[in-house]
Amino acid sequence: MSNQPIGVFDSGLGGLSVLLEIERQLPAEDLVYVADSAHAPYGAKTADYMAERCIKISDFLLSQRVKVIVVACNTATAYAAEVLRQHLTIPIIGLEPAVKPAVKLTQTGKIGVLATRQTANSARLQRLIDTYAQNTQVVVQACPGLVEHVEAGDFNSAELKQLLSEYLKPLQEQGVDTLVLGCTHYPFLRQTLMELIQGQMTIVETSQAVTRQVVNILTQHQLLQTNPLAQRRVQFYSSLQGELLEKSAKSAALLWQRELELLSLPAEFR
Ligand code: DGL
Repeated sequence: MSNQPIGVFDSGLGGLSVLLEIERQLPAEDLVYVADSAHAPYGAKTADYMAERCIKISDFLLSQRVKVIVVACNTATAYAAEVLRQHLTIPIIGLEPAVKPAVKLTQTGKIGVLATRQTANSARLQRLIDTYAQNTQVVVQACPGLVEHVEAGDFNSAELKQLLSEYLKPLQEQGVDTLVLGCTHYPFLRQTLMELIQGQMTIVETSQAVTRQVVNILTQHQLLQTNPLAQRRVQFYSSLQGELLEKSAKSAALLWQRELELLSLPAEFR
């Protein structure tokens, strides 16, 4: 099984921020990525809708013989990771906002979390805060609209900056010094965020930690690719079709920082 690929999915292209890190830390592994862009943003969907989509995508990934699945989406992890674990026998690795590391880093005792509306309202985030941030003030800011900008390959338009400024304002007013990016789309906005926060906050995100977790799980299950001659293969799929798929492929190439081929999922998984 160790020769089989790692499956990674997100509601859209944001999970590429995680895939980039997995690619860097695990250079011999084959990877299959699914962007469920036809159903993004998950942050505006119900838990049942997300669970149904996550099961469909994981069934597709299983048809590609993946050995583990990384849910590269905070929102899907918060609402569907448990359902997936009941549905599948292979390891499922989810991710959640980096509240714990942020609590360690803050000097002012005030951290901010930017997330989708669904993640911001999730019991899972509340549990994280109750567990790790008892003596820290946590300002949680829901950020509807940001995912759509990243999906469209927009990282720094005036309209996006305006939206980000609005979302950062309450955090700045509260004196937050540590900023958790609680959505895998947001690392692609890092440059623009840095411009706006002007060195007043440290940005924390999750892709390195989740990749270490992937390495741990693969090691534990003896699933690490051991063939030193393996030629890595990375495949990309999307639930979009036609012109929208072509457009999305352009955004994906920007995020992936090189050319790629984005294929449409077979109809039964779209
Ligand atoms: N990248 C997803 C996350 O980490 C975005 C979810 C969405 O589509 O709203 O939460």
